Amino acid sequence: PRKIIIDTDPGQDDAAAIMLALASPELEVVGITAVAGNVPLARTALNARIVLEICGRADIPVFAGAEAPLKRKLVTAEHVHGKTGLDGVELFDPAQPLASGHAVDFIIETLRTEPEKSVTLCALGPLTNIAMAFARAPDIAARLRQIVLMGGGYFEGGNITPSAEFNIYVDPEAAAAVFGAGVPITMMPLDVTHKVLTTRVRVARLRANGNRASRAMADMLEFYERFDERKYGTDGGPLHDPTVIAWLIDPEMFSGRHCNVEIETGSDLTLGATVVDWWNVTDRPDNAFVAGDVDSDRFFDLLIERLARL
Ligand code: BDR
Ligand code: CA
Repeated sequence: PRKIIIDTDPGQDDAAAIMLALASPELEVVGITAVAGNVPLARTALNARIVLEICGRADIPVFAGAEAPLKRKLVTAEHVHGKTGLDGVELFDPAQPLASGHAVDFIIETLRTEPEKSVTLCALGPLTNIAMAFARAPDIAARLRQIVLMGGGYFEGGNITPSAEFNIYVDPEAAAAVFGAGVPITMMPLDVTHKVLTTRVRVARLRANGNRASRAMADMLEFYERFDERKYGTDGGPLHDPTVIAWLIDPEMFSGRHCNVEIETGSDLTLGATVVDWWNVTDRPDNAFVAGDVDSDRFFDLLIERLARL
């Protein structure tokens, strides 16, 4: 299996991504690194362990990472995820303690000790931990297999400001460093994730799996992003982060292009915008594979089938 580290700020959709990874024999989760994002770090680090316990996988270490973005004050998203970050399901104190050591050190150590180009970083939150790891240990860039991240948007616009997506907006300097690091990146933007909607029929199918993980996820999804329905009249909300894991398992369900992506860090109005050269109108070099579309039925078939295995 492909070795992955999941860097995350759970978040119900982060939880869905973690579960999909745990349920998939193609992947081996070597560790989870928590970052501040949807909710503060203490909570994301706790939530990651709750998700592991729900899945019976408390053997996977969880490391706490950055408490705040590189240069800015933390912006959170309780309006999407609720006060705990995992509202919707009954929460508990996980038996698993946090692993000792900092998430950034774990990322560096793992990349230095595992065989070259064997480890993939899955980034589901602000890119603070990953940017810190590259800054502290530039040698790891060449050892990484790739980064697959959820973040940004281009034709679709933003979800935290009119022009920025949450993960990039929270730490635009970190995002700029990661996109500038010269590593292979696959990006799942809002243009894709806004197509994978947690419709009532899909959530009911997931619940019908009957196992603990599927029921917990269905409970979370009945809370998560439901404001989309009230505000936009959609059936369900976008399930962003699991697209990262789905791409590693079945990339054929996505289309996309290799493009140049730059991050806006200067403007107040468009801070955190991902400037994607989709039409190749600059001569800036490609630095990412940017997903453009997804077969959302195939995505949910995969998610529902896999979560039944947990
Ligand atoms: C991203 O922001 C968070 O709220 C979600 O977990 C996802 O990673 C979507 O913009
Ligand atoms: Ca997230």
